Amino acid sequence: MSVWTDGTIVIAGGTGALGERLVEALFEKAPLLILGRDRDKFLSLAGRYPGLEFQSIEEYQGEGHVFINSIGAACYFEASSFSQDEARKSYESNFEVPARLISSALKTMKKRGKGWVININSLSGLHGYPQGGGYVPFKFALKGFLETARKERGRADIRISEIYPGIIDTPFSSALPFSFDRAQAISPVKVAALIAWMVCEDIYLSHVEWPNDKIRFRR
Ligand SMILES: NC(=O)c1ccc[n+]([C@@H]2O[C@H](COP(=O)([O-])OP(=O)(O)OC[C@H]3O[C@@H](n4cnc5c(N)ncnc54)[C@H](OP(=O)(O)O)[C@@H]3O)[C@@H](O)[C@H]2O)c1
Repeated sequence: MSVWTDGTIVIAGGTGALGERLVEALFEKAPLLILGRDRDKFLSLAGRYPGLEFQSIEEYQGEGHVFINSIGAACYFEASSFSQDEARKSYESNFEVPARLISSALKTMKKRGKGWVININSLSGLHGYPQGGGYVPFKFALKGFLETARKERGRADIRISEIYPGIIDTPFSSALPFSFDRAQAISPVKVAALIAWMVCEDIYLSHVEWPNDKIRFRR
């Protein structure tokens, strides 16, 4: 265990598929606070992992030594078929909510002089692709927000880690605008294991790209 497991670890989006794997990897290692929008989903999660705490995203006041963001939502359309309604929903899930929560966490970390933000971004935060118009722009935006935060740390011992996975084997990836060989998708258990290893062994990786090198895409 490391100094990072002495305090509370916050998992925003802990009720999602990757979020639950993060809970599984960390719940016996440190006190966990789950941030979400659906208390019933949390109660079901807490039935499987006793001892979890919950806050709605509106209640969050910046608690936690480590803040992990796993909030995001699928949204795909062509650049030539812009959908304002879809784009607004995607902005909320992929940028506004994560940025607001990360901002609250950073405020507390700055006061404390220490903390660690780990954001699950996506390769979509680094590269565009056909029909990525509803998702890619907001993943790029969150990357920009965290680059700003990185430059604002001053002397505070605040770590910022960005994880950029390719396709993960969760129901989320069924919404992708192309088909692919699911057997080659990244296991969410492995993504969670990487993050648990970083936190529990005190290993600071600031930028992790995890491509699906072998995956075969079909349009
Ligand atoms: N799966 C992939 O192929 C893949 C690849 C690369 C990156 N990622 C990223 O990895 C993260 C986790 O993905 P996943 O596969 O675990 O998807 P998921 O199962 O759909 O989980 C997404 C989580 O985000 C929460 N969420 C979405 N919109 C929200 C909003 N407006 N307010 C509050 N919470 C909101 C969901 O809440 P509810 O539980 O209430 O629905 C859920 O907990 C996301 O950031 C995603 O972009 C996924």
